[in-house]
Amino acid sequence: MVGDKPAQFGFDRPGVSTPRRDPLPEVEEAAPTLAETDELDLRDGEVPERVERTLSDLDEELVGLAAVKRRVREIGALLLVDRARQQFGLASSRPTLHMSFTGGPGTGKTTVAQRMAQMLHALGYLRTPKVHTVTRDDLVGQFIGHTAPKTKEAIARAAGGILFIDEAYYLFRPENERDYGQEVIEILLTEMESERDSLVVIFAGYEDRMETFFSANPGLSSRVPHHIAFEDYSHEELVRIADLMVASENFRFDTDGRAAFSEYLDLRMQQPRFSNARSVRNAIERCRLRQAKRLVELHHPLTRDDLVTLTAADVHGSSLFTAEPGRPDVEERG
Ligand SMILES: Nc1ncnc2c1ncn2[C@@H]1O[C@H](COP(=O)(O)OP(=O)(O)OP(=O)(O)O)[C@@H](O)[C@H]1O
Ligand SMILES: [Mg+2]
Repeated sequence: MVGDKPAQFGFDRPGVSTPRRDPLPEVEEAAPTLAETDELDLRDGEVPERVERTLSDLDEELVGLAAVKRRVREIGALLLVDRARQQFGLASSRPTLHMSFTGGPGTGKTTVAQRMAQMLHALGYLRTPKVHTVTRDDLVGQFIGHTAPKTKEAIARAAGGILFIDEAYYLFRPENERDYGQEVIEILLTEMESERDSLVVIFAGYEDRMETFFSANPGLSSRVPHHIAFEDYSHEELVRIADLMVASENFRFDTDGRAAFSEYLDLRMQQPRFSNARSVRNAIERCRLRQAKRLVELHHPLTRDDLVTLTAADVHGSSLFTAEPGRPDVEERG
C-alpha cells in the first residue's frame, strides 16, 4: 500500500463485507504490505478498533481489576506493534503468549481468560476466540499409557484457542514420584514450544500454590512470560459488582435493599469459603429465591416494579442474619 494515504492494518479484503458486531470474523496473519517509507497509524483500521472494543468492554463490564486491565492492555499493545512490524516485513519470532493467572476464588480469572481470547483472536494470534478449560482430571490418566493420549486430546481440542488449566498445581505432586501429572507437564512443555503458533496456554490458580508450582518446574516457568495477578475485591467493589449483576438480570436493589446487601457482605467476607464475585453472584441468586417466595405470598396483583425490586427483607432472610453467630451448620455457602 504505497501512496500518500496513511497505511492501515490491512484486513479489509476487497469485496468482503465484514459485520460490525459479533461474531468476529477470522483475521489473517499480517502480510508484509508496506514499503520502508510508508507510515502506519497504530489506531487506524479494523483490527485496532476491535482490540479497543474488547479492551473498553473489559473496562466497562468488569469492576476494579486495575492492574489486570493494565496488563491486558500491555499485551494488546505488544501484539499491535508486532503486527505493524510484520507489515513492514520486519522479521522477528512470534511473541510467546503463554500466561499465568493467579488469584483467589471468584476474582475474575476465567472471565478475563475469555476476554483475552477475544483480544488475541481479534489480533489474529488465535484462530478462534474459544477457551477450553481443563483441570488435572481431564489431563491425567488412571493407568500407564493413558495420560499422553488424554493430554494430547485436550490440547487438540484447545488448538487454535486457549487451553486454560485451572488449579494447575494439582499436576505436580512431589510426594508421589511416579505421579502421571509429571508426564502432563512434559507433554505441555513440548507442545507449548512446538505449537506456539496455534496454542496459548493459561495456567490458573491461587497465588501461593502457583508460585510453588512454577519454582518446582523452572522449564515451565521460563515458557510463561506473562503473569497476571488478580487481587481480592474490596467491599466497595463487591457492592458495585452486585449492582452490575442485578442490573444485567433486570433487577435492582431498593435503597434499603442495597444497604442490607452491603451489610450482608461485611458478614460474608469474614466467613470461610468466601469467594469474591462468585459469592456475590450466589448471594444474589438466594435473594431472588426469597423475593419470589415473598411475591408469591403477597396474594395480590404485582407491578413491574414489584418484579424487579430486591428489598431489605430479601437480603435479611439470609442465615447470616437469622442464625446464632458462630454456628457452623448455618454457614452461608458459595
Ligand atoms: N470485576 C468483576 N466485575 C463484575 N463481575 C465479575 C468480576 N469478577 C468476576 N465477576 C463475576 O464473578 C463470577 C466469578 O468470576 P470467575 O469465574 O471469572 O472467577 P475465577 O477467578 O475464575 O474463580 P475460580 O478461581 O473460583 O475459578 C463470574 O460470574 C463473573 O462474571
Ligand atoms: Mg475460574
